[in-house]
Amino acid sequence: MTTPAASPAVRRLDDWDAVDLSALLDDYGSPLYVLDLERVRENCHRIQSAFPDAEILYAVKANALGDVLETLHTEGVGLECASAGEVERALAAIESSTEGDSSGADVHYTAVNPPARDLDWVVDAWEDHPELTITVGAEDTLDRLEERGYDGRLCLRVNPGIGAGHHEKVQTGANAKFGVPAERAVDVLTDAAERGFDVVGIHAHVGSGVSSDQLDDHREFVSRMGDLARDVSDAIAAVDGDGLEFVDVGGGFGVPYREEEEPLDLEAVAEATREAIGEIDATLTIEPGRYFVADAGVLLTEVNTVKEARDTLAVGIDAGMTTLLRPAMYDAYHPIRNLTADSSGTDANDSHTSREMRPQTITGPICESGDVFCTDRQLPASERGDVLAIGNAGAYGYEMANQYNSRPRPASVVLEGDEVRLARRRETVDDVTRLETRRSDPTNEAGGAGSNGNADTDADREADNGHDTR
Ligand code: LLP
Repeated sequence: MTTPAASPAVRRLDDWDAVDLSALLDDYGSPLYVLDLERVRENCHRIQSAFPDAEILYAVKANALGDVLETLHTEGVGLECASAGEVERALAAIESSTEGDSSGADVHYTAVNPPARDLDWVVDAWEDHPELTITVGAEDTLDRLEERGYDGRLCLRVNPGIGAGHHEKVQTGANAKFGVPAERAVDVLTDAAERGFDVVGIHAHVGSGVSSDQLDDHREFVSRMGDLARDVSDAIAAVDGDGLEFVDVGGGFGVPYREEEEPLDLEAVAEATREAIGEIDATLTIEPGRYFVADAGVLLTEVNTVKEARDTLAVGIDAGMTTLLRPAMYDAYHPIRNLTADSSGTDANDSHTSREMRPQTITGPICESGDVFCTDRQLPASERGDVLAIGNAGAYGYEMANQYNSRPRPASVVLEGDEVRLARRRETVDDVTRLETRRSDPTNEAGGAGSNGNADTDADREADNGHDTR
């Protein structure tokens, strides 16, 4: 295992090799997601070393690429899933990294307003993987699980009443959508245990991108979870003789997106967590997503248009809000580097360039005014054909990409040591239209003749290869 000293707490965009990255774009085209699996491993080892006694899960939603899931599972990390689709990908990754042997023990499904199809699929999967855990965030999800015959491992997501995170849209801890109010947890779980569910845990997640200056909120939240765990354990033990197995305090560890931001002090977070939770007769579980993958990924893109606008240099690139949604959705800052300008100096890795520095507004090709990566950012004057790198794109990058404006999603390559591998090919417009049926073409029956587009029978499911069912 790598020691924390051997791996820096953050990999900045400037730490990537400009020449190597540009060569990837030449080989695989633009735009292109690049993910360094070695860096994912380093991030993993730092988390493991800060939380040596905790059970560590990876929040798959941050980056669900099979290579990431396999890499992290091989490092001893479990997988926290937000949908049946993620559970399916998690089980597949575990099966490949353990040569077909999976009890589901390392898979947690956190059901947020779960569609019926998700519950159907996960309960089916549980028959073959009886050790998977389902986390419910509403009392009626218990009824829906019971109706499907589920009496397996159950965790309750509570709403602790404290939210934190980098933007209001990612603060969940006090948002009515998430979890059962913490004050009802004892009653709900006592009832669940009496109904025969195997109650194993409590869970909460206050938000995403929590920074060091929100450590007090984190402490307060964890301390509430500690108190709740003690109450719930006693109540459950009175019903089934066993207390709680784990207390899951979610993910949310922030990473620095701005060059001047300091990385989170993980050891301090771990220390605060241990102190705040107090004595519990259960394992502490954490489930970060972003921290594992954010700085392991960059998005490469090419400049296609440069024009003098009224008061800025307007630079058009071939990645847009469909490729990386975070700036449009959260006004998120991502570092941007002009690799062509940086590699034209005497030293390829020297970020000093002879190009004039100019404030630039960098925008994508989508017909929306929100399709902007930065406004008036000081960068070497862009020229048509330049390759830009957008940093910290490993988390919630490809996962939130979409096909708006009929834009196929980009390719992804993974790096591992000296090896480069195409991990996911670039989509084509055929991929975008593949599921359509057209009035003018009766032989094109993506949903099956007379189908409502949903695969409701086993035969339909098989015909649809299981993938249209959710
Ligand atoms: N556990 C649960 C139940 C979650 O909902 C999340 C994230 C995590 C763990 C992992 O949080 P992380 O460690 O990655 O912060 N798209 C947004 C982030 C949304 C996060 C949603 N839930 C973004 O790009 O900032």
